[in-house]
Order: sequence, then structure tokens, then C-alpha cells
Amino acid sequence: MTHILVTGGAGFIGSHVTAALLAANHDVSVLDCGHPAAHTGIPEMPAGAVPHRADLRDRDAVRTALRGVDAVVHQAALVGLGAGPDDLPDYVGCNDLGTAVLLAAMAEAGVRRLVLASSMVVYGEGAYACERHGPVRPAPREVADLAAGQFEPACPTCGAPLDAGLVTEDAPVDPRSVYAATKVAQEHLAAVWARECDAAVAALRYHNVYGPGMPRDTPYSGVAAIFRSSLENGQAPRVFEDGAQRRDFVHVADVAAANVVALGARPGFRAYNVASGRPTTVGGMAAVLADAFGGPSPVVTGQFRLGDVRHVVASPARAAAELGFEAAVLPETGLREFACVPLRG
Ligand code: UD1
Repeated sequence: MTHILVTGGAGFIGSHVTAALLAANHDVSVLDCGHPAAHTGIPEMPAGAVPHRADLRDRDAVRTALRGVDAVVHQAALVGLGAGPDDLPDYVGCNDLGTAVLLAAMAEAGVRRLVLASSMVVYGEGAYACERHGPVRPAPREVADLAAGQFEPACPTCGAPLDAGLVTEDAPVDPRSVYAATKVAQEHLAAVWARECDAAVAALRYHNVYGPGMPRDTPYSGVAAIFRSSLENGQAPRVFEDGAQRRDFVHVADVAAANVVALGARPGFRAYNVASGRPTTVGGMAAVLADAFGGPSPVVTGQFRLGDVRHVVASPARAAAELGFEAAVLPETGLREFACVPLRG
């Protein structure tokens, strides 16, 4: 039995990770500041875990929380795309300075095993290939193209339509938002730390996580929670673009299971996609939720958000081969259940 510190353990994903670790017979401590961006009011700490209510940037508090700990599962972060430049100091402070303080304190305490919650947003756009030019990396989409309803990225050389494929962990990083940039920085800091301290870091690049306890619709919510909140309010889910953009919706129970097995990852830094392996379109996901909820059918609005990427769909092969992780919840099943569970906040 080992003792694991979960940062952000009172949050949506962190509380599921804490429960999964306890169920796997680990001792668990939780460090969580109850950040107002993630919680309305003061969140309850998960039962069965030793609670530490403190900010990750408080080195003394982190030192205390690390006492007797063998490994850290680092979930604490400000999430969402970041609304704009005003968000920079908070995102960088919580996500990157917080991670830096944690890594320094872990080195000091001799804790050399970390599972880091990363994100598919580090990739920017997914993987694309042009029939003539092979694998290509399209630039961010132009406003004029989006406004004209041309949502698919084109080949940067010949402008031809592209085939969208599975993104692997070796794809170059290309963050397109403040949040994404802080996740890339977390990974880089953790990779350097792993080398310097001869430590093990598994960076789990979560795809679109959903499930029980997901926070209600906020400016920072993922699309599944936004659609779910619309249905609850008697409104149709509003699907942007043409609804054919693809994502991989992965159930939070699977994400928690991935964190548990990632504690056994090999030394050094290694990134893993954490995905269901069964991608769907955003329009298709909205239709499943609306049908299961018994609410109005989705409306495809043609609206777009600058900074949104078109398709991000992962290969789950590395996590399967190296960690033995495969998602157990089919999106079709999990999303139908999600349509009917209460949201948080
Ligand atoms: C999301 C998260 C990101 C996280 C990543 C992986 C947000 C805002 N984004 O990225 O932080 O790291 O998953 O877990 O939390 N859409 C609609 N209608 C809406 C809102 C969105 O159709 O009302 C569409 C968007 O245009 C986009 C897709 O749904 O095409 C997904 O949007 P969203 O969940 O916000 O962002 P991701 O880029 O998938």
C-alpha cells in the first residue's frame, strides 16, 4: 500500500481519482484550495482522504501535505480555454508556478513519482494528411473562412481538403490558448524535473472528460456540460460550426482508472493520450444527450469561436500498450447516463 497525494482532489476529476485510489487500497491525502473558478462555495473534501486546504503555491503547506507521501497525482489547475489576456496571470500562477512549487517540494521530500493531468489541448489541431502532400499541420483557421462556413482546415500548400486522423503522443505541441500554453509548460517543467531528479512522470493528456459531478455551465465549461445545462433549462443544445467537428469524450471513471495505473509508469517523462478511442462528432454527442434527456433536438447554429480547433481525436494505443489502460465506458452508454445525472454547482 502506498500513500498518494492528490492535488485538486476536491474537484470534478480529482474527486473521482481520489475515490479510485482509495478503492485500490492506497492511503490518500488531498491538497485543494477550493478555487472559486472551480467551485461555488467551499467544496467538501473527499471522505476517507487526509484533507489539506491550501494553495499549491504555498510551499510550507505543500511540504506538510507531502509528509509520508510516496507519489503525487497532480490534478489541480485552472481549466477552460482562458477568456483572454486578463486571465494570463491567474492561469500561469495556478498552473505553472503551482506546479513549480510542487516539483521543488517533491524533490526536497524525496518523492520521485508524479502523474500529471495534462490535456489534448497541447496538440492544437489534430492530425491531418493531404492526399498530395502527406501529413501536414494546418495553421489556425481564418475568420473569413469560418464566417463563410468553411470549417475544415485546408492543406497549407495546395489548399486541398484534408483527411483527419488519430493524433499520437509524438505529435508536436502547438498550444492555441492560455490554458493550453500552461499545460505545455507543466509538461516541460515536469520533464526537466524527471531528468534532474531521476524521477517518473506520466503526463496524461485527457480528451474531453465528462461524467457525474461535472460542474454546471460556466464560461470555462466543456461542451458536454454546456449542452447538459441547456437541456436542464428546457433549451436545445446549440451546436457550433456545422456539428461535424470531432472529439473523443472519455468518462471520468476511465480517467480515474488511468491515473491509478499510471502510478506504475516507467522512469523518465512519458505522455499518454487518455481517450475512449471512440470519437464522435459534437453534433452526434448533442443528439445522444438530447435523446437520452428527452429534451429538444440540438440546433446547429453555424456560429464559431475563434481559437476552437476542428478535430482532435487521439490514438489510445500507447496507454494500452504501456499502461494496460483501455477505457471501459462506451461514449454512447456513458453519455446517455450523463444526460440524467445531476451536475455540480
Ligand atoms: C475541452 C476543454 C479543454 C480541455 C479539453 C480536453 C473547455 C472550454 N475546453 O476542449 O479545457 O482541456 O476539452 O479535456 O473546457 N461547442 C458547441 N457549443 C457550445 C460550446 C462548444 O458546439 O455551446 C463546440 C466547440 O465549438 C468545439 C467543441 O464543441 O468545437 C468542443 O468545445 P469545448 O468542450 O469547449 O472545447 P475543447 O476544445 O474540446
